[in-house]
Amino acid sequence: MKLANALTYSHTLLSQTVERGNYVIDATVGNGHDTEFLSQLVGPKGHVLGFDVQAAAITATAQRLAEAQLNNTELILAGHENVEQYLPVNQSVGGAIFNLGYLPGADKDVITHGATTLAAINGILPHLKRNGLLVLVVYYGHPGGQDEVNQLLTFAQALPQKEYHVLQYQFINQVNQPPYIIAIQKRV
Ligand SMILES: C[S@@+](CC[C@H](N)C(=O)[O-])C[C@H]1O[C@@H](n2cnc3c(N)ncnc32)[C@H](O)[C@@H]1O
Repeated sequence: MKLANALTYSHTLLSQTVERGNYVIDATVGNGHDTEFLSQLVGPKGHVLGFDVQAAAITATAQRLAEAQLNNTELILAGHENVEQYLPVNQSVGGAIFNLGYLPGADKDVITHGATTLAAINGILPHLKRNGLLVLVVYYGHPGGQDEVNQLLTFAQALPQKEYHVLQYQFINQVNQPPYIIAIQKRV
């Protein structure tokens, strides 16, 4: 068996922790690959809340979901840093994914940033269920990427061990700065 790359492993981790019927979040919808995966994972009784700042991403994803006849998804054209405005106050969250950086094939200047990514993470963590998982797929090869990663690592490494398991999954001998995973699991 070949070791999985970060993208594949992010789905493996979510498959192992999210349950059918859960409420989940795709914080960076893009072309909707993760949104579609989450939609199928939680099934018709589940709910996917998705965010992107680019209208083209929301449109492409809505079309992808319609073609797949998936209708348990709510797509929001806004930054994920506004997550608390859209997440019902007492809503528990089974899982969340952030696929950071820029959307391949689109404007490379539209990237995620440490401050807004952290605001979103801080908005979601209090809602995570016990054993719920927040997965960050981290790209850091583009301008601004390393700065975002540094902020995320500083934050994640300081999370209290009694409350969260924090995992880093990374190939450390590969060229071209392949993406890696930071995954945060709620323990209590
Ligand atoms: C690497 S792409 C996501 C790819 C996507 N998961 C897919 O399956 O195609 C990153 C996305 O984050 C979006 N983005 C950037 N800043 C954002 C923010 N503050 N809130 C939500 N999305 C953001 C970009 O517009 C871009 O579509």
